[in-house]
Formats: sequence, structure tokens, C-alpha cells
Amino acid sequence: MVVGSLRAKLRKELGDNEHEADWIIAHVTKMSQEEFIKNPRDITEEEYNEIMEITARRSMGEPLQYILGETEFMGLTFKVDDNVLIPRQDTETLVETVIKKIKDKNVRVLDIGTGSGCVGISIAKLCPNAEVTMLDYSEAVLDVAEENAKLNDVNVNLIKCDILEEIPEGKFDVIVSNPPYIETDTIFSLDNIVARYEPPEALDGGFDGLMFYQRIAELAPEIMDDNSFLAVEIGYNQAEAVTEILDEAEFSAIKVIEDPCENERVITAKYKSSLFSDLIP
Ligand SMILES: C[S@@+](CC[C@H](N)C(=O)[O-])C[C@H]1O[C@@H](n2cnc3c(N)ncnc32)[C@H](O)[C@@H]1O
Repeated sequence: MVVGSLRAKLRKELGDNEHEADWIIAHVTKMSQEEFIKNPRDITEEEYNEIMEITARRSMGEPLQYILGETEFMGLTFKVDDNVLIPRQDTETLVETVIKKIKDKNVRVLDIGTGSGCVGISIAKLCPNAEVTMLDYSEAVLDVAEENAKLNDVNVNLIKCDILEEIPEGKFDVIVSNPPYIETDTIFSLDNIVARYEPPEALDGGFDGLMFYQRIAELAPEIMDDNSFLAVEIGYNQAEAVTEILDEAEFSAIKVIEDPCENERVITAKYKSSLFSDLIP
């Protein structure tokens, strides 16, 4: 079969996800999407069988990123498996906010709840003077993050730490986190792809979804210096509650940042900002 007719067949089978047809063909044939559109060739029987197997799994609802074992984030490639959350495009707003703030400064960055490592690794790649530490609670998750650090050729520190039980060692100029922020009841009552395929530990923010923001605020005196910078991703309706938590914990200059779809997506703040230590203006 020629690529062109296979493409049409897949698009039909994938319905709402028809845009993924090219991604599947490119992955299996190892040709870029541009290449196979410009120079279509015959698909081998082996390639055809693999493409059809992937399409069948995808049609059953399994996320394509888990089937292919990889995804793109901030223009970089990340390996994913079912231990880690699939990096979301929404989270690029968090990374871009931090990068804009630190640029080429020599800063110590801590990524809390690193998962695939997409946040910390993108910062390390795009801010080469930053010293990036990334933590997560599980060894299996950290293995994926380590593989991604190698794949993207960055040096980062990885630590196993249950942030709800332990205090990470050291002080940091920047704390960045896309923590679990969905209300427990919502996760387990959800009849959707996220709840079915992605690890609940990556989603569960406690009964009100705010448990990790509260914990980060509580840890601030231990892990942040006066004037350290905080950037956290938030759920679409959490800006007010998270602002309140940070305000009560001596954070200042609290800002809510919208993503390109105009959803409130990120909150930034300074810890105990003082006039005399403006490390990150
Ligand atoms: C929403 S996911 C974010 C993953 C990744 N940073 C991203 O943006 O795609 C939250 C992460 O927090 C981790 N996590 C959950 N509970 C934790 C805990 N108690 N201590 C440390 N990390 C935890 C999960 O394993 C998961 O990787």
C-alpha cells in the first residue's frame, strides 16, 4: 500500500484523532511527516502490521504517547511510560514563565514532582547556567526522568523524596512545580482517558486539590531564601485559593499568568521579598 492511501484509511479509523495518523506513520516508517508527504513510497508488510496494531490500540482509547513511548514538549523529545504523566502543552506556559525570569542567571532550581522530567530538563536545556534539581517520590518515575536527561544531554540532580513526608535538602533560588492538583473525588469518579491510563499519584491533589500548594508554602522557609522565586501550575479554577495560600505564607508579588487559551494556568510569587536581596528581579 502507498503511504497516501494508508494515511486516508488511518484518518478514517482514528475519527476525532485523525491528526495522529501522520504521527503514527512517521514513527513506524522513520520518515518525517514532510518526507512521506513529499515522497510517498510503498509501506512494507511489517510496517503495515505495526501501524495497524498501533491504530487499533489508539482506537480503544490508549493515549498515543504511551503506545509510541515518547512525546514532544518544548520542542524536545521525552520518553514516557505509564509511570509518568504525559507532558501537556499547557505546562509549556509554566516552563516559559520560568525561563523568561531566569534567562542566563546562575540559579539553583528545584522541580517538585518532576515526572518525565519535562519541566526541569527543558529549563536545564534552555538555561544552561541553571543548576537544576528534580524530585519525585518514586524510583520508577525517576528512572524515566534520568533517561530523558540523558536523551536531551543535560546534567541535572535527581532526588527521591516524598514531598508530603520529607523535606528536600538545600535551598533554591527558584522552585517550579506542576503538582498533582485534581480533587480526589473527581479523579476516581472520572470516566475518562486520563483517569483510566495515567497514574493517579500524578493527579491526586487531595480532597480539595490544594494539598501540594499548601505543602510547598509550608516548606518555603526550609527550601527557599528571602526573595526566591516560585512558579506553580494551577487548575483552571484554583487561582484565588492558591493566591490565598501563598499570601498567608509570606509570599509577595503574587501574579496569575494565563496560557495561550486565556486560562489561568500559572502562579508566580516571591518568597519574603526584601529590598536588599533582589537576586531575581
Ligand atoms: C502533575 S504530575 C507532573 C509531572 C511533570 N512535572 C509534568 O509537568 O508533566 C505530578 C508529579 O508529582 C509526583 N508526586 C506525587 N506525589 C508526590 C509526592 N508525595 N512527593 C513527590 N512527588 C510526588 C508524581 O509522581 C508526578 O510525577
